[in-house]
Amino acid sequence: MDDDAWFRVRVTVPPGAATVADLVVDALWQHAPPAVEERSGDGATTFVAGYPSRSTAELAATAVRRAGATDVEVVAVVDDGLDAWRAHAEPHDAGPFVIVPPWIPAPTDDRRRALVVDPGRSFGSGSHPTTRLVLAELADVVAPGASVLDVGCGSGVLAVGAALCGAGAVHGIDVDPAAPATTLANAAANDVADRVTASTEPLAAVSAAGRTFDVVAANLLAPVIADLSEDLAAVVAPGGTLLLSGLLVARWRPATDAVTGADPGLAPAGVGQLDGWVVVRLERPAGSR
Ligand SMILES: C[S@@+](CC[C@H](N)C(=O)[O-])C[C@H]1O[C@@H](n2cnc3c(N)ncnc32)[C@H](O)[C@@H]1O
Repeated sequence: MDDDAWFRVRVTVPPGAATVADLVVDALWQHAPPAVEERSGDGATTFVAGYPSRSTAELAATAVRRAGATDVEVVAVVDDGLDAWRAHAEPHDAGPFVIVPPWIPAPTDDRRRALVVDPGRSFGSGSHPTTRLVLAELADVVAPGASVLDVGCGSGVLAVGAALCGAGAVHGIDVDPAAPATTLANAAANDVADRVTASTEPLAAVSAAGRTFDVVAANLLAPVIADLSEDLAAVVAPGGTLLLSGLLVARWRPATDAVTGADPGLAPAGVGQLDGWVVVRLERPAGSR
């Protein structure tokens, strides 16, 4: 176990290999990185995921090679590199919010209120379009006192945003062991700690306990959403809304179909788009189920 470095797995998939790309993303996520970054250029797609030890990174690299990828490298990253973004952090507009780290003054006005987030090493600084897409939807669908589940809470940016929108109780879950503490710290920084809880409880356990929520936000990636489709559907209350994101424009339909296929009681109610990424809103009619 390396204590002082992280390791990045970088995988490039050539044009026309969409199936391999899906398998690669799935394999990277199976080893629980905080995020999987996807960059497109010249038809090829490069995926980058960070892991806290060389052994985990090597396991992920072996899995992506088994998935059919050949252009794979494992790179050690010094801590300074991972934190370099802090010097260049800037505010991001998202629905009625402006997301800022604590060390930047929030440029608020009549239309925007501050959502203060220090993501630490978890995903969710507000710089990614999917975060901003889901926050705008949450502002639209969260009614006063609503219950909200944030699946893949990362920094807690969506959980905290939902609480600021008036949710009565928000629970965030994540496979990233650092995410719950980061989420709770950000809830405290925004004075909503009394309405936000967070844990690494698997979605399957929440679903098996029969818990349902008025709003469920799932900013994950397409293969993860497809994998979790039954449990994502199961935790949406009658009259509730499921927000799916982390979906590239070219790939949102199969993930959405997996969820509506698992539960035809969820009906598509809208699709939003930003910078090549998509958020899908699914609704369960009141009085059903
Ligand atoms: C794209 S980030 C979203 C973070 C934050 N909610 C946002 O919108 O910025 C996806 C998060 O999902 C988590 N994740 C991946 N697979 C998961 C799973 N099966 N269950 C729960 N969380 C998962 C990752 O660790 C990561 O924090």
